[in-house]
Amino acid sequence: MPVAAIADAGPITVRRLQRDDADAVRELDSLILGEDRSSTWDEYIDRFLAFSRLGTQALPWSGSQVAEVENGVVGFLLAERQSSGYGLPPGLRIVAVAVHPDFRKQGVGRKLVEALRVDSKRQGIKHIYSVLHNSDERDAEFLEGCGFAPAEVKVFVAEA
Ligand SMILES: CC(C)(COP(=O)(O)OP(=O)(O)OC[C@H]1O[C@@H](n2cnc3c(N)ncnc32)[C@H](O)[C@@H]1OP(=O)(O)O)[C@@H](O)C(=O)NCCC(=O)NCCS
Repeated sequence: MPVAAIADAGPITVRRLQRDDADAVRELDSLILGEDRSSTWDEYIDRFLAFSRLGTQALPWSGSQVAEVENGVVGFLLAERQSSGYGLPPGLRIVAVAVHPDFRKQGVGRKLVEALRVDSKRQGIKHIYSVLHNSDERDAEFLEGCGFAPAEVKVFVAEA
């Protein structure tokens, strides 16, 4: 499905992301520029787009979702399995969320996260994570607005 034409948007529905949503993901990605891009943006979008070119096998379940109106896609959420690490029980990690600039602040991002929650629960997954750079303040506010709270984990780093 293409990215939506704004004029006749209708009710917004959310469903699982499919391989053939890659064009809409690429198109939405191209609308997200400059300060609108979070610092980890490119890495995850590129990974999904590369994976979607890998032939006809079905995408493994990852919790990823798209939001659409009748004539096209208005948002997507990419997620992947989080294996257990220090301080983090296994679960699912949100790696990118995007909403078409003309459809923001209408609860579309929240709907994507809600759909991920419902889908994850059905799969027996208990925790959903997202990791942000400190500078991604808007994304922190978005996650907090969707019911997330900072985890009790600190990451330390030194030069090798
Ligand atoms: C971040 C983004 C996905 C939010 O989508 P959205 O559909 O506008 O979000 P919602 O309307 O569902 O907002 C849910 C809550 O998040 C918070 N929020 C949303 N946008 C926000 C912003 N720009 N600044 C601060 N808080 C924000 C609010 O608390 C909001 O709750 P409220 O409506 O009760 O105030 C969207 O701005 C976007 O696509 N950004 C560009 C891509 C990107 O960098 N994504 C970051 C994650 S990788």
